[in-house]
Amino acid sequence: MHIPQNLQIKSFAEYKQWYKQSVENPEKFWDEIANQFLWKKKWNKTLEYDFNTPKVSWFKGGKLNITENCLDRHLEKLGNKTAIIWEPNDPDEETRHITYRQLYVKVSHFANVLKNNGIKKGDRVCLYMPMIPELAIAMLACARVGAVHSIVFAGFSSTAIASRINDSECKMLITANEVYRGNKRVNLKEMCDEALKQTPSIETVIVYRRTVEPTPMKSNRDKFWFDELQKVSKDCAAEEMDAEDLLFILYTSGSTGKPKGMVHTTGGYMVGSTFTFQNVFQPNENDIYWCTADIGWITGHSYIIYGPLCAGATTVMFEGIPSYPDYGRFWEICDKLNVTHFYTAPTAIRALAKHPLDYVKKHNLQSLKILGSVGEPINEEAWHWYNDHIGNGNCPIVDTWWQTETGAIMISPLAGITPTRPTFATLPLPGVQLALMDENGIEIEQKPIQAEGRLAIKFPWPSMARSVYNDHERYKNVYFSQFKGKYFTGDGAYRDATGNYRITGRVDDVVIVSGHNLGTAPIENAINEHELVAESAIVGFPHEVKGTALCAYITLHEGHNESDKLTSEIKKLVADTIGPIAKPDKIIFVGGLPKTRSGKIMRRILRKIASNETDALGDISTLLNPDVVDEIIVAFGK
Ligand code: WTA
Repeated sequence: MHIPQNLQIKSFAEYKQWYKQSVENPEKFWDEIANQFLWKKKWNKTLEYDFNTPKVSWFKGGKLNITENCLDRHLEKLGNKTAIIWEPNDPDEETRHITYRQLYVKVSHFANVLKNNGIKKGDRVCLYMPMIPELAIAMLACARVGAVHSIVFAGFSSTAIASRINDSECKMLITANEVYRGNKRVNLKEMCDEALKQTPSIETVIVYRRTVEPTPMKSNRDKFWFDELQKVSKDCAAEEMDAEDLLFILYTSGSTGKPKGMVHTTGGYMVGSTFTFQNVFQPNENDIYWCTADIGWITGHSYIIYGPLCAGATTVMFEGIPSYPDYGRFWEICDKLNVTHFYTAPTAIRALAKHPLDYVKKHNLQSLKILGSVGEPINEEAWHWYNDHIGNGNCPIVDTWWQTETGAIMISPLAGITPTRPTFATLPLPGVQLALMDENGIEIEQKPIQAEGRLAIKFPWPSMARSVYNDHERYKNVYFSQFKGKYFTGDGAYRDATGNYRITGRVDDVVIVSGHNLGTAPIENAINEHELVAESAIVGFPHEVKGTALCAYITLHEGHNESDKLTSEIKKLVADTIGPIAKPDKIIFVGGLPKTRSGKIMRRILRKIASNETDALGDISTLLNPDVVDEIIVAFGK
């Protein structure tokens, strides 16, 4: 097996060969891949693991800084190449092109701002920022000085910011005064100020001015980005990090309780995100790659920033939304920037497909070569629309399955190299050993190959999350307790006769709405905060654009009745506690919720009712209160 410097597999036969080697001798395989990166000191042990504790370490003893791999090592050959193209929300505002050399200087410069404000290796820094280059600069600056970034998506509420800051005791918050979204201006600083009332660990707030509006600042705590830059030099040596030192924390919803701060470490994450970027997207030197995700999600971390920059690619960052100024904005940008790779979510495709094709046809889309999909299963109709109208029938679609926890793409075609099949994420990447588990927790072996079950992974991979921040027990319970010795994904999957995988959706209480991972429990908790609410249950139901939407079944305290006012108060409560994305599409008031004899809400039944599958409710006679079912069906139909 010869590994080229760009790590790219170049044929289906080669894929099979690499895959085989990665299973037969994983350590040798990853050793050779990792050798293509810049290390300050080579590791002494490639892999050490035990899925029972669970404890995983990759490239132990290796020393590096990921920003030297994203920036410094490219300077000689790619210094003048564009690293980031930034496309503003307003099409009349100027596009920014930032070369690798410029990015290197900006990151080093801002890294000194962090240091000058007392940030040291290991400190946690929260980023709550819009999609502007300064977000990329701030995250890389954290990595440069060895601080751990915790990015909170700038659509989350102040309560959500505060709980994330407090969970990992962040010392600093970096934000912007405002953000443009379509024709709206959203005040981020105000949201932060609200959160900061409850976050004792924050010592400093750095504010980037995105707009000229006056911004109230608290003295001794709040500082403007530009003022801080004036105080420091532009040279900043990269901190030496251990391969297993924390690179970042990223919160993801769980099926119960508060969000989990997934912990990603430096060496393995770098190797995994870059290897998969190079292979799934197969970028060439002059390609323009655009992932439309927000950097606040894992997709943005791995495939706008770390993967593409380590690979020396040109990555596009878009500040705006697909519907502004009209539904053709994505395609207008593709033409304007000559985008070759376009990576988005099925929910965006479905939302755009609802509008007249003229929005697409106005643009020629000739530069596109490769399309990608991520975040949820892509349905047949959306796949064909994407393929026919955006790809013009000649761009391979890579349907990439992965998770915040996996850090990098796990199942996907390699663009132009391995076969695609509509609605299938297809084959595991090298190094990814999948297992389908039956309901008894037994692995369904490869013969017969065609099978359906719960998706698990039976061997470590470099970019996997190492823990849940401050709660290793939860990491163990959620991911390693379902199936002994295996990582459980929480997803169901089907495997066809040729070994291609199709993800069938979550099998736990996580609902994916418009590609966003939402736990039902935190939303229920928010609703239950309302003084008139006795109890609530959230389920997902099929939705034309969102893929899945949320339905809330709510019971009220005695003597209270439903009203429009109550409905809007509940929606507002959810938006304020979690964020607007978690607002239920439907709110149904009922007299009681179906329960098992042990008092557990039977969400399965509620799900069927919300999906109009009332003839498939199954046996309800074992319920504590079977009578409520008919009542709920009637309430739902109203
Ligand atoms: C779902 C996003 C089907 C899945 C990268 C997973 C998908 C969850 C796909 C993780 C796909 C992601 N096909 N389902 N191509 N990609 N999912 O953590 O249920 O935001 O477990 O990571 O999204 O969501 P997360």
